[in-house]
Amino acid sequence: MDNPFVYGEVVPDAAFVDREVELDRLVRDLLAGQKVFLISPRRYGKSSLVRQALASAGRAGALAVSVTVSSYSSYVAFLEGYARALVSVESRVDRARKWLREMLGTVRPEVRVEPGPGGAPTLAVAFPSARTHQDVSRLAQEVFALPGRIADARDRTLVVALDEFQAVASFGAEGGRTARMAQVEHALRAAVQHQRRVGYVFSGSEPSLMEAMLGRSRPFYKAGPVMRLEKIDPAAFAAFVGARFRATRIRPEPGLGAAIVELAGNLPYDVQRLAHELWDDARAEGAKAVGVEDLHRTLRRLLGEHEALFETAWQRLTLAQRAALRAAVLEDGRELLSADTRARYRLGGASTVQASLNALVRDDVLAREGARYATVDSLFREWVARHTH
Ligand SMILES: Nc1ncnc2c1ncn2[C@@H]1O[C@H](COP(=O)(O)OP(=O)(O)OP(=O)(O)O)[C@@H](O)[C@H]1O
Ligand SMILES: [Mg+2]
Repeated sequence: MDNPFVYGEVVPDAAFVDREVELDRLVRDLLAGQKVFLISPRRYGKSSLVRQALASAGRAGALAVSVTVSSYSSYVAFLEGYARALVSVESRVDRARKWLREMLGTVRPEVRVEPGPGGAPTLAVAFPSARTHQDVSRLAQEVFALPGRIADARDRTLVVALDEFQAVASFGAEGGRTARMAQVEHALRAAVQHQRRVGYVFSGSEPSLMEAMLGRSRPFYKAGPVMRLEKIDPAAFAAFVGARFRATRIRPEPGLGAAIVELAGNLPYDVQRLAHELWDDARAEGAKAVGVEDLHRTLRRLLGEHEALFETAWQRLTLAQRAALRAAVLEDGRELLSADTRARYRLGGASTVQASLNALVRDDVLAREGARYATVDSLFREWVARHTH
């Protein structure tokens, strides 16, 4: 029997919880051709939400394309991957190739047919003639215009998801040409605003970079609606966990779902991870029921398995950061700058503590939740609480 809890990848339908309001809104906006920004810290479930939205838009008759911007090592590689993903909405290779010739003829694409994952042929696209900065700019304009042309050619709404979108900020700056950075955003913004039949979702997991991109002086200022993804409703998540255990004939002790959500800090990834690992342990023992004590046994196993990793992460911190992190863990992230907390944990001056907290947030160890500093990884939080002094 398969483990019903999934983490570390985009969740399948059966493990997707809640998010009905967000999903409904996102699908409606995309089908209406809006340019939506979707922002949250890491592992909140952006990619999973986008996957659901694209599937739903597809059922409503739209074409859908999805690309992870951060997976490309250069701007040109991104443009190649993006062009390839766009033309693959046309499943007939000969027609997709014809599109490339017609729609991108001026930038002379090199097109090859390759065997795809299932053996079916797919197209590989390269732009070997893009060498100078001007070439690349012209190429980008053509590629960014492609979605509009495809929507027209197919007479259908097209929905485009650019995931880890904050990575575009590094493209123009390759080789230190920082001044050109904003040109990527300019080119994309200029193209998408004319594409009435193309909905875009730009999702990003570095909130500060994404928010900066929406600032007054940047091209995407007021380009479209902004969705800031929150955590999942804890009661709904706890109920899901309990129900999945029951459905696989392991009886959860009352309150187990809530205990998992709480221990995981309600971070979607961590909730699924703890539930997944607990389920594995219960299954391996042939248990018919599972409770909070079992949960703590699983937690101890996981902490042991992560020992080396956490040790390294801890060693990498400065002494001031270690002290600030310990205080954040033991004080539940509250009142860290108060004289009382600083004295109790020997943290030094408020500005030193603030600098440490900022560094920890930047490195994705802590996350700001209102006035509170939450430890992102709940396992690391437990490890710091138990194994450091
Ligand atoms: N709606 C959901 N219901 C249940 N679990 C979820 C949901 N969304 C996310 N998760 C859990 O969180 C994990 C991370 O989700 P996902 O990859 O979609 O997040 P993300 O915000 O795109 O993360 P990253 O910042 O790493 O790209 C999933 O593998 C799953 O375990
Ligand atoms: Mg993601």
